[in-house]
Amino acid sequence: MLAPAKLAALQQIIPQYSREELLWISGYLAGIAGGQPTTSAPAVLNDQISIVFGTETGNSKKVAAQLAARLKQAQRKVKLTSADQYKPEWLASEQQLIVVISTQGEGEPPVQAKAFYDHLHQRSETLPQLRYAVVALGSRSYPLFCQAGIDIDTQLRRLQAQPITAMALCDDDYEPVATAWTDGLLQILAQQIPAAPPAVAVATSTTDAKKQYSATLAVKQLLNDTGSRQAVYHLELDLPEEPNYTPGNAIGLVPQNDTATVEKLLQLLRISGSTPLLYKGQQQPASSLLQQQVSVHYLSSSVVKKYAQLIGADIPDTRLDLYDLLRIYPLPDELNAQLVIDLLNPISPRLYTIASAPNAHRGQLHLTVALDSFSTNSGQRQGFASRWLTHLPPGAQLSFFLHTQKNFQLPRSDKHLIMIGRGTGIAPFRSMLAERDATGATGRNWLFFAEENFVTDFYYQTEIQAWHETGTLQQVSLAFEKNRQRQLQMPDLLLLEADKLWQWIDSGAYLMVSGKKEYMGKPVEDALLQIIQQKKNTDTAGAQAFLKQLQKDGLYARELY
Ligand SMILES: Cc1cc2nc3c(=O)[nH]c(=O)nc-3n(C[C@H](O)[C@H](O)[C@H](O)COP(=O)(O)OP(=O)(O)OC[C@H]3O[C@@H](n4cnc5c(N)ncnc54)[C@H](O)[C@@H]3O)c2cc1C
Ligand SMILES: Cc1cc2nc3c(=O)[nH]c(=O)nc-3n(C[C@H](O)[C@H](O)[C@H](O)COP(=O)(O)O)c2cc1C
Repeated sequence: MLAPAKLAALQQIIPQYSREELLWISGYLAGIAGGQPTTSAPAVLNDQISIVFGTETGNSKKVAAQLAARLKQAQRKVKLTSADQYKPEWLASEQQLIVVISTQGEGEPPVQAKAFYDHLHQRSETLPQLRYAVVALGSRSYPLFCQAGIDIDTQLRRLQAQPITAMALCDDDYEPVATAWTDGLLQILAQQIPAAPPAVAVATSTTDAKKQYSATLAVKQLLNDTGSRQAVYHLELDLPEEPNYTPGNAIGLVPQNDTATVEKLLQLLRISGSTPLLYKGQQQPASSLLQQQVSVHYLSSSVVKKYAQLIGADIPDTRLDLYDLLRIYPLPDELNAQLVIDLLNPISPRLYTIASAPNAHRGQLHLTVALDSFSTNSGQRQGFASRWLTHLPPGAQLSFFLHTQKNFQLPRSDKHLIMIGRGTGIAPFRSMLAERDATGATGRNWLFFAEENFVTDFYYQTEIQAWHETGTLQQVSLAFEKNRQRQLQMPDLLLLEADKLWQWIDSGAYLMVSGKKEYMGKPVEDALLQIIQQKKNTDTAGAQAFLKQLQKDGLYARELY
C-alpha cells in the first residue's frame, strides 16, 4: 500500500501516459522492484545467460528470441534453448537462467516443456549457484493465470536459486510487459554484472514470423444429420500457396467481429466508421479496427476493471461483451473513444487441426469445426471464432498461419497407430488416414471414434468405411453416447477393447488422443491407466510411470482443447 500523499502524487502523473506506456512502466517497475541486490549473490559470475523457452503457440519463443537479441545487443553471451532440447544435467553448471514459459491446459506447462517442468519439480539437489528470472505468459481469461511460470519461480526458490528480478506476468497483450521487463532486467544486469565481449551461441532459430497464407472457402458442409444436437462443419479451403504441413498440424485463424456488432459499438462510442483511431502504434478507421483487431467479446475482468477506473464507476468484477459494458455503463461525454480502444486486447487467434492430408488433398486444406454453443445468464450463445468461421459464405477470403504441433505428428509410415478421437477430434486422424492411404504406408491403423449419436453424428462415415474395406484401417471401434442399442462413452469402449488394445501398445504402437479436454483428457487417460495397471499387473504409480515413459518416447501424444 502507498501512503495517501504518495498515491495522490502517482495518480497525478498517470493521465499523461498512454496505455502502452503504462504497461511498459508496470513491467519496468516490476523489474526494478525485484532487482534489489540479494545478499547471497555470488561474487564472481559466469557471463553466459541461458534462456529456456516453453511454448505451445510460439508467443514464449518470440519473447525469448527478442530477449536474447536484446541481451546480445548489450554484449551479453546468450544461449537460447527450447525446453524440449534442454538437458537437466546442464542446470548444475548454469549460473544465470531465464525461463520464458506459457501456461496451457488448466494451469499446466506446454507439452514440449513438460519434461523440463517435471525435472525441476522432482529435483532434490539445490541450485544455490544459480541466479534466475522467469517470464510467465498466460491469459487472465483462465482461472490459473500464468500458473506454469509461477510454479517454476516457486520451485527455483525452493531449490535455493536466487531471483535476479521479479517474475514478469504477461496477459494476452504480452509484448509491452515483456519489453519493459527486459528493459528493467538489462538495467539490473548492467549494475550487477559486467558485460562480456560479444559472443553468440544461439541453439535455435530466432525467427518466429507467423507467415500468413490466404485461402478461399470452397466448401462448407454440415456433417450432422437432422435431429442432432451438434453443429459440426466440414470446411474446404482452396489455397493459392500451400503451406508445408504434416498430418497433426493445425492452423491459426483470427476471427472477425461482424458488421452489426461494429455498427452498434460505433454508436455507443459516438464515432463514425471512418474516425481514425490508434491501435498498436497504427492509425486506422474505427470500423476496420473494431472488425479485425480488437477483442470485444467476453472481455476479461481486467479490461472491465480498467474501464470502471476510466469512467469512475463501480462495476462488479465480471466478464461481459463490450457492447453490454458500454450500454450499461455508457462512456461519459467528456471521454473519447480512443480511451476505450486503448483498454482492449487484440483478438486471440483460434487453432483448428487440419483434417486433410498433403498427399491426398493437394491445393486444399480441410477443417472440422464445431459451432461452439453454451448457455449464459442472458440465454444461449455461440463461440466467437466458430460462429464466424461456420457462417462464412462459400467464396469468402480468409488468411491463416500454420501451427506445427511438434509433439502431435503422424508417426513413421511403418509404425502402428492407435487413434482415439471424439467429435472434432476426428480431424487429425482423417488427415493421418488419408495420408497413409495415399502413400501406401505399411503401419497398421486402429481408429476409436466417439460422439453422441450414431445416426446423426458419425462424421466422415463413408470415408472411414472405405478405408476399413480397403485395409487402410485394420480396426474401427465406435462409441455413441445416445445410441438406442448400446450407449457407450469412449472410456467404456477402451476398457471393452482392453485385451487387443494392450497387444497393440505392447507391440510398440503409437497412441494418439484428440478432442475436447472434458471428454478426452482425464476420462480417457484414467481408462488407459486402468488397462496398463491390469495388464502389467502393477499399481497406479507403476501405470503412470509407464504412460509417462510412452509420452517421453513420443509413443503417446494428446491434443486436447
Ligand atoms: C491445438 C488445438 C486444436 C483445435 N482443433 C479444433 C478443431 O479441429 N475443431 C474445432 O472445432 N475446434 C478446435 N479447437 C478449438 C478451437 O480453437 C476453439 O477454441 C473453439 O472453436 C472455440 O472457440 P470460439 O471462439 O468459437 O469460442 P469462444 O468465444 O472463445 O468461447 C469459448 C468458451 O468460452 C466461454 N464463453 C465465451 N463467451 C462467453 C460469454 N459471453 N459468457 C459466458 N461464457 C463465455 C464458453 O465456455 C465458451 O465455450 C482446437 C484448439 C486447439 C488448442
Ligand atoms: C488451450 C489453452 C489453454 C490455456 N490455459 C491457460 C491457463 O490455464 N492459464 C493461463 O494463464 N493461460 C492459459 N492459456 C493462454 C496462453 O498461455 C497464452 O495464450 C500464451 O500467450 C500462449 O503462449 P505460447 O504461444 O508461448 O504457448 C491457454 C491457452 C490455450 C490455447
